[in-house]
Amino acid sequence: MEKEVKAIILGAGKGTRMKSTKPKVLHEIFAKPLLSWVIDSISALSKKVESIVVIGHGAHEVEEYLNHNYKYVKTTLQKEQLGTGHAVAQALPLLAGFRGLVIITCGDTPLITTQSLKSLIKYHLEHNSDLTVMTTVFDNPFGYGRIIRSAKGEIIKIVEEKDASESTKEIKEVNTGIYCLEWTKIKKAFTELKNNNSQGEYYLTDIIKWARDNSCRVLGYKNPDNREMQGINSRSDLEKAFQVMNQRHLDSLMDKGVTIYDRNSTYISPETIICEDSVIFPNTYIEGRNYISSGCKIGPMAHLRGNCEIGEGSKIGNFVELKNAKIAKKTNVCHLTYVGDAKIGSCVNIGAGTIFANYNSITKEKKLSTVADGVSIGSNSVIVAPVELKEDSFVAALSCITKDVEADSLVMNRVPQKEIKNWVKNKKEKIDYES
Ligand code: UD1
Ligand code: CA
Repeated sequence: MEKEVKAIILGAGKGTRMKSTKPKVLHEIFAKPLLSWVIDSISALSKKVESIVVIGHGAHEVEEYLNHNYKYVKTTLQKEQLGTGHAVAQALPLLAGFRGLVIITCGDTPLITTQSLKSLIKYHLEHNSDLTVMTTVFDNPFGYGRIIRSAKGEIIKIVEEKDASESTKEIKEVNTGIYCLEWTKIKKAFTELKNNNSQGEYYLTDIIKWARDNSCRVLGYKNPDNREMQGINSRSDLEKAFQVMNQRHLDSLMDKGVTIYDRNSTYISPETIICEDSVIFPNTYIEGRNYISSGCKIGPMAHLRGNCEIGEGSKIGNFVELKNAKIAKKTNVCHLTYVGDAKIGSCVNIGAGTIFANYNSITKEKKLSTVADGVSIGSNSVIVAPVELKEDSFVAALSCITKDVEADSLVMNRVPQKEIKNWVKNKKEKIDYES
């Protein structure tokens, strides 16, 4: 029978090194909190895996976020932040009677992949381990707990940077903060941890020594990809993790047949799917979930803010911003345009400088506009939501559209052109006369 798996995610810490009023786990990469990236990687293991988040610092904010976005995730409160071991202990009541595997991860390690979690569990089960810690090797291991192995290669204990001697600091194999536990065997450790270390904290890492002292089998699973293990303690770590997440996704897109010309100025959220033969030009920033079909051209200098769908062969050009825009096939939005909350058909041409005015700042409401197939919108027009432009209608340049437009109509809403003959000449003559 397959073992039941539950996960504990630690997210109660203050994140002092971030120098922020916001709880660390709510800091974002591609507009999504660190905690959310971790929960999603765990949830992708299987729908059956239940996650428990330990909250503490900024508990109210974190809980509100979770209630809003992850109703199925449980929380437990760590009133005082007395260390990572003490944090896990707060989940004990929620796991009473549980007999399966517990995965422990930190909410500040957002790059962890589902694949690595799977490998950790597989390794743990295949080797009949009681406690498996995921390790990795860093050239610069500063800040991480160091893995101490015996001459035979067995993991004996983990020593934190702050408790490490100079020679221990030389060790490059580190604790990633991710563990797999045979819950019935290891749970007792959490009631027996001590806080006699340089920080006066109950360290989760001390369960390694506890497990060995209590005749449990302790193993290390070394993850070959150390980029995944970047923990976020500072703004500089956040920047590093953002870059890794981005580069990893750009590589996978290129592998799938997407052209990307400049990996140093292209930013695409891993939640954005792009199909083959689409081309992404430099200085493009894409966050959130989006679906870009094949044969599209995006950028240079395009900004997609999520919930967009772009149909085959459509073009999104320079200085164009899209948000919640569903655009069908062969449509051009080529210059200086904002499309927010709109459904746009195929073979539509949206002229330079068009704005979809979707937001009423008094009612705080956002409304949707619809543009049917074959519509042409002249440059510098404003489409004030909610309106519908029906098939093949034509909006004259510089129009402000506030009412629906019938199919095949020309609509014009601007001051008619007025010409005053010889106006300039007359002005100039007047000036000459006066002087
Ligand atoms: C921890 C590990 C270290 C490992 C590193 C990997 C310990 C003692 N150290 O160090 O060996 O190399 O992670 O990234 O475990 N937290 C709580 N309650 C607390 C304290 C922390 O929930 O009382 C949470 C934090 O929100 C964070 C996680 O635990 O998500 C890790 O805490 P942090 O202070 O970042 O530990 P590190 O110093 O990075
Ligand atoms: Ca950390």
